[in-house]
Amino acid sequence: MDQKIFIKTFGCQMNEYDSNRIYDTVKQIGYVKTKVYEEADCYLLNTCHIRDKAKEKVYHEIGRVKKIFRSKKKPLVIITGCVAQAENEEILKREPYVDLIIGPQSYHKINDTIINYLDKNEKIEETEFDTVSKFEYLSRIQNNSNKISSFLTIQEGCDKFCNFCVVPYTRGPEYSRPFSQILKEAKNLVDNGSKEITLLGQNVNAYNFEGLRLSDLILEIEKLSGIKRIRYTTSHPNDMTDDLIEVYKVSKKLMPLVHLPVQSGSDKILELMNRKHNIKTYLEIFKKLKMINSNIEFSSDFIIAYPGESEQDFQDTLKLIEDIKFINSFSFIYSPRPGTVASELKTLNKIQSLFRLQAIQKALFKNQMEKNKSLENQIISVLVEGWNDDNTKLFGRSEHMTSVLFEGYDNLIGKVVKVKILRSNQNTLFGTAIDLNNQKVA
Ligand code: SAH
Ligand code: SF4
Ligand code: F3S
Repeated sequence: MDQKIFIKTFGCQMNEYDSNRIYDTVKQIGYVKTKVYEEADCYLLNTCHIRDKAKEKVYHEIGRVKKIFRSKKKPLVIITGCVAQAENEEILKREPYVDLIIGPQSYHKINDTIINYLDKNEKIEETEFDTVSKFEYLSRIQNNSNKISSFLTIQEGCDKFCNFCVVPYTRGPEYSRPFSQILKEAKNLVDNGSKEITLLGQNVNAYNFEGLRLSDLILEIEKLSGIKRIRYTTSHPNDMTDDLIEVYKVSKKLMPLVHLPVQSGSDKILELMNRKHNIKTYLEIFKKLKMINSNIEFSSDFIIAYPGESEQDFQDTLKLIEDIKFINSFSFIYSPRPGTVASELKTLNKIQSLFRLQAIQKALFKNQMEKNKSLENQIISVLVEGWNDDNTKLFGRSEHMTSVLFEGYDNLIGKVVKVKILRSNQNTLFGTAIDLNNQKVA
């Protein structure tokens, strides 16, 4: 069989990782990736359920596919990811155009499910939680990512049950992959050309395999020759244990950006959210890390207008943003999710919510602009990932994950180079590569 598959991915980095692994898997039964909708024999949509809009996007996207294939042979349509898990057979009822539903813990069954469908034409949904088998199966199939910067999932699921969040329901209980399985995959990525690995998990710093923690993994992975940078995301403040904090003292390759979602600056709201951390402990983590290295920056996630958020609670969030000066953060208006505790609560007025979101984003963007502006005329380290879309400038990232566009040559791709920043905007730094003798190379 030589069939074409079109894979579209919504949601977080874990979904991106999963889509790549799904492709590594279906390749074994003869699928080859296409970037052209019209060419697809199989259309796979990997979905996200985190906010209501994310879910609606799924049905719009299926509508789009239907239109594209109106006068063509219908492709095999597969829905994977968190909407598949949350809605399972509902999707088949609402959208008969869909053929197969496969939840995030069942990707190891994808080839058998497809073969069975092609054989018997039987629509099914696979949504059992079977994380152990999934990773055992996937670890036997080579991760073929050959990107300069690659993702590696080390942990899945969540036991924390924040009152607003669907993740514990869509990804199941917390599970940490075996240490040696991860090291093998990391080595394979580095042997394949990866220079940066981002360790992933819905609660990545809760990683615990027979007592081995995220800190142990970082120190082991950085021994691989060829790896230049290590990152991890997303962490929970309660799992920011001292061993992980101490790694920032000794690690040579862990990047100085800590993405640590706080959600709100008000203890009252954190309590209502069932976050199980408070602002005092959050600030303590911030101070400890800054003491170790003042170059460490923080980024975060914020939920605005959570039920019960008063003007004072909102001001507390603004104050925290002012104190910590987060860079590169995400902020969203609270979206009620079916099945979660908070879905029963009364939501805030829409206009007021929007007004608060705008104020928060203004404050976050101001910090980001100022940070970027402060780098003008400075020389920074950039890991070069490739050319930008129109092939005119090299694209890379700073240690703090900010995009950098600069003049340079092909031979810099995959290297960490020094770039002199000449100008900046909110999201990007612009500059020119400098060689070791401080001369321009372009
Ligand atoms: N495990 C991480 C977050 C994973 S979900 C943590 O504990 O922080 C990613 C982000 O989506 C969350 O940080 C939160 O800001 C946002 N989010 C989750 N549920 C949401 C909801 N119901 N409405 C709006 N934003 C939500
Ligand atoms: Fe969701 Fe993160 Fe809370 Fe888990 S810890 S329930 S993933 S927000
Ligand atoms: Fe979305 Fe599932 Fe990730 S809900 S954010 S794709 S864990």
